[in-house]
This record gives sequence, C-alpha cells and structure tokens, in this order.
Amino acid sequence: MKIGLFDSGLGGLVVLKAVVKQLPDYDYEYYGDTKHVPYGGRAEEEIYELTKAGVIHLFERDCALVIIACNTASAETLRRLQDEFLPEEYPTRKILGVIIPVIEEVVNSECKRVLMFATQRTVSSGKYHLELGKRNEIDTKIEAVATPELVPLLEVGNIAGASAIAQALIDERLLDGGEVEGLILGCTHYTLLTDKLREAYGDRIKIFSQAEIIPERIDDYLMRHM
Ligand code: DGL
Repeated sequence: MKIGLFDSGLGGLVVLKAVVKQLPDYDYEYYGDTKHVPYGGRAEEEIYELTKAGVIHLFERDCALVIIACNTASAETLRRLQDEFLPEEYPTRKILGVIIPVIEEVVNSECKRVLMFATQRTVSSGKYHLELGKRNEIDTKIEAVATPELVPLLEVGNIAGASAIAQALIDERLLDGGEVEGLILGCTHYTLLTDKLREAYGDRIKIFSQAEIIPERIDDYLMRHM
C-alpha cells in the first residue's frame, strides 16, 4: 500500500522522514507545493483548490491514504475534502489531517497553558481551539500566535534565525510572568525547531512536535482501519 503526504512546501519532509522510520514497510509519495508556498496568507478557497489538486495528484499515483501534513491546509480544507470531495470522487480512499492528533496529545499531557505558533490562516481558522473545546476537561488554554515570518526562513534552512525569533516570543511571555507549560509547533516547517527549542528550555516547556506525534497516530489508524 502507498501513503501520500501533502504539504505546502518542504517542511513536511521532516514529518515524512519520521513516518517512514516508524512504518518502513509502506510505499510513499510526497507532494510539496513549492510553487505556491506559503499557504498561510492565502484565501480559504485558494487553499482548498491547491490542496485538492495535490490530493488528486497523490491519489492518481495510487496512494490509498493521504496525510495532509500542512496545518494550514488541514485547518481550512480537511472537513470539506472528507465530506464533499472524497465520497464523490474517490470513495474508497482516505484523507487524514494533523490537528486532532496534536490536540489529543495536548489534552493527555495535562498542560494548562500552551503557546502555539502557526500561520495566520491556521490561527484565524480557530480549528485548534475548536478541537480543544470538544475534549477539554482540564481547562487548557491555547494562546495562538501567527508567526508567518518563520516559514520562509525554514524553507531555506535558516533554523538558527527562525529559532531566535521563536525564542524571543517565548521569552517575552516568560519575562512577563506568563506561564508557558507547552508549545505547539503548529506548522510542518516548525518541526525543524524542535531540537533547538528543547536545548533552550529543557523540561521547562513541553514541545508538541508533529514529527513525533503523527507517525504513531498513522500506525494506530492503519492497524484499526486498513
Ligand atoms: N506547511 C504550512 C503549515 O503547516 C506552513 C507553511 C505555509 O504557510 O505554507 O501550516
């Protein structure tokens, strides 16, 4: 069986690498829309059409399951693709996103004050908060901060530059006396910051990195459904 992974650019390759490591016995196909990255500032309809085109490409290359690793595309298109597009066009295939697995991890961690870095679109979609609201029994609060400036830096491999900006945003909150127990790296590209931020904050802040969360979840999904 072949699994497809969709992202707006190259950031999703980090997630793909982690998925291949966890599930080496599957075939894989990656679609990074480097022609249109970044998605984070685009209109919802445009993100839907671009994501749909990527998903069709992956289905036409025989992927039975497509993971929308891009948070922006997951936030803006997943429900519509699953409800409208799949039943009409590819009723036997599956599409999964990345937001629910992260929220379930946050809820399980019992962190109450969680900062999230994501694109403008992911933040304004409110999808992380929506999914948290469905499961939040311990009154976790997520402060979502749009950090589109990190994407172009990470797309060209400038991890140090992006990490400095991320750390300044975290430190600002800590110096202000704000609590930051957890940090969601809510964009595929930001997974590249995981090691640097762990070096900087150690156990003080729990980093929710999709390269760590998603592979386990796909494994679990495949065992239960395919
Ligand atoms: N890959 C996108 C995400 O995970 C971020 C980059 C973009 O703006 O396209 O949200």
